[in-house]
Amino acid sequence: MKEKRIGFATRMGAIAATVGSAVGLGNIWRFPYQAGVNGGGAYILVYLLCIVLLGIPIMMSEFIIGRSTHKNMKGAIEQLTPGSPFKIFSYIGVFGALLICGYYSVVCGWVIEYLWSSVSGSLLESNPEQFPQIFTTFIGSPDRCVMWTLLFLALNFLVLSRGIQKGVERMANIMMPLLFALLIVFCVNSLLMPDSTKGLSFLFNINFDKLGWKGVVDAMGQAFMSLSLGVTCLITYSSYFKDDSNLMKDAVTISTLDTLVAILAGIVIFPAVFSFGLDPQAGPDLIFITLPTIFQQMPGGTIWATLFFILLFFASITSTISLSEIPITFLIDEYKFSRGKAIILTAVLMTVVAVLSALSFSTLGDITIAGKNIFDFLDFVGPNFFMLLGGLVTAVYVGWIIKKYVIHDQLTNGGMHRSRFVQPYITICLRFISPVAIIIIFLYYVGLI
Ligand code: PFF
Repeated sequence: MKEKRIGFATRMGAIAATVGSAVGLGNIWRFPYQAGVNGGGAYILVYLLCIVLLGIPIMMSEFIIGRSTHKNMKGAIEQLTPGSPFKIFSYIGVFGALLICGYYSVVCGWVIEYLWSSVSGSLLESNPEQFPQIFTTFIGSPDRCVMWTLLFLALNFLVLSRGIQKGVERMANIMMPLLFALLIVFCVNSLLMPDSTKGLSFLFNINFDKLGWKGVVDAMGQAFMSLSLGVTCLITYSSYFKDDSNLMKDAVTISTLDTLVAILAGIVIFPAVFSFGLDPQAGPDLIFITLPTIFQQMPGGTIWATLFFILLFFASITSTISLSEIPITFLIDEYKFSRGKAIILTAVLMTVVAVLSALSFSTLGDITIAGKNIFDFLDFVGPNFFMLLGGLVTAVYVGWIIKKYVIHDQLTNGGMHRSRFVQPYITICLRFISPVAIIIIFLYYVGLI
């Protein structure tokens, strides 16, 4: 039986849940480590350009597709452009979401490990020099990694089984502002550290020598990852939006908040990295090495650490919930699954990917794809291939294929708002800038540039 679609109770609820999807480990774990390995300032500049020229227009496109039809991508395309072959691409989103959510849950498991050791007090007992080793030992222990990952996934699917409205909205409403406030406290703390200016100049001094094509690809993938683009997540979420929400304003608000959180995370991490002589290029380990060092020198460090990892846990689960909703809604709408059955199948598939990823630092460490272990491979292809490809399809579809009046109608809510600047801006970005930029990146992948 087809289940009734439940809208978000309030406009704020819908925005808060979408911010909840956008703000997550992408901002706090991935952005700082990517900025670190790609040399800082120039990467951030390209990242910001990607948000403005690709991210916001593609976010608006996903909103237009979802809200105009109240359907997932495949159903929406069938309704907007009957018979269009574009619907094949909706599988990219479903498949991409399964892979991304799988490896992402492993990092959520790391967050639980650090939350656990903060609560038990053991996290801050060691010497700062030992933090890298502690992290490496932890991810190298298959039992612990798999246990926390499975616990995380169980909680994720428990929330989902209670329905989108109650589960997602309530949590997102409370936790996001708190996380924001805590990051500001940590920023002030980091800025007061000796040598904090070195960290700031790493973040904001623009030096293109260190960037290269790889940095540009990373920045673009990260912009998509951070805004939850290209895997039809925002199509799915906006299919639950009410018809009077202002899509232009919402897209700008969500992107701005999301970018602010990422930059704040950078300002928390890098002054500390330089102040304590840590390695900015540490990679995925970066925050798990740096944060304990920061907490250790704060009065009441254990409490700060506990609070932070609780909020990070909530930021992460609101993102995985939105990722999980993609296959779930797809199965319900397209294959007439009951919600319960759709949740079970999604859970099984994600668990397989998650366990394989969790073991890629230990038992399955020898398995490599394109020179990367399973986790690193998924962390690369998820954002840099699936999301970019999905983004390309969305940009071309909304920019070139669907009727102009649908775009105008959705952006202005049938003429209620003005879109004099916004519509030309997104049209240029969707028709030309995004496709060209993404195609250049793909040419780079296949070695043609
Ligand atoms: N945007 C989330 C983050 O930055 O952590 C990750 C994410 C959520 C990606 C939902 C994609 C998605 F569909």
